[in-house]
Amino acid sequence: MADRSSPSYHPGKEAAGKKAADLVEDGMIVGLGTGSTTAYTIKEIGKRVKEGLDILAVVTSYQSEMLAIEAGIPLTSLAEHPVLDIAIDGADQVNPNLDTIKGGGAAHTREKIVSLSAKRFIIVADESKYVEELEMPIPIEVLPYAYKLVQKQIADLGGKAEIRAASRKDGPVISDNGNFTLDADFGKIKNPEELSTSLSKCAGLVEHGIFTNVDEVYIGDKDGNVKVLKK
Ligand code: 5RP
Repeated sequence: MADRSSPSYHPGKEAAGKKAADLVEDGMIVGLGTGSTTAYTIKEIGKRVKEGLDILAVVTSYQSEMLAIEAGIPLTSLAEHPVLDIAIDGADQVNPNLDTIKGGGAAHTREKIVSLSAKRFIIVADESKYVEELEMPIPIEVLPYAYKLVQKQIADLGGKAEIRAASRKDGPVISDNGNFTLDADFGKIKNPEELSTSLSKCAGLVEHGIFTNVDEVYIGDKDGNVKVLKK
């Protein structure tokens, strides 16, 4: 989590992340997302657990697992609790229809599984993530064995997929599932639902970062105000 002196700190992240924690109630099974915005949610839920809030949580990454353990949140698994009451997660871009791109932290496969297991899926983000049209390269998790084939299938769909590397001299970013991450540039995405369906049909592609199942978005601005957008 970016502290207030860090260059990546944005007051909107803190405000949105904390406000969404109020949605969590006694008895809930909660999905915990990944990233710097959700880190505020996890910390806030942890505070409420210390005050007596009785919940169980399912994490979406090693990062959120470590934060949840540090915050004292009791954890469970999807195998034990396949239906979650709520999942709260961050975003890289969101449009007015609440279509969202996720996967900036290469955690989108588990994030999608958790979001689709939840009865209610909430996004927390600062205002810079809200755009009229989705246009950032879409994070794609691929089996290393199949990455060339996936790049070709994405080219056939009109995109250009590059392997994500931590720096130019480093090898590929490896996901928590042991796979490669690609970023697939399609320019402005006119129809996220259609592209999502086409990408899901690519052989060797484990999961992509287009989410069309968001129920509500908590957007925080630089003054710490939070607007809630609903489907
Ligand atoms: C990780 C994600 C993150 O939720 C997304 O990248 C937003 O991160 P942050 O809150 O740090 O801006 O999808 O895979």
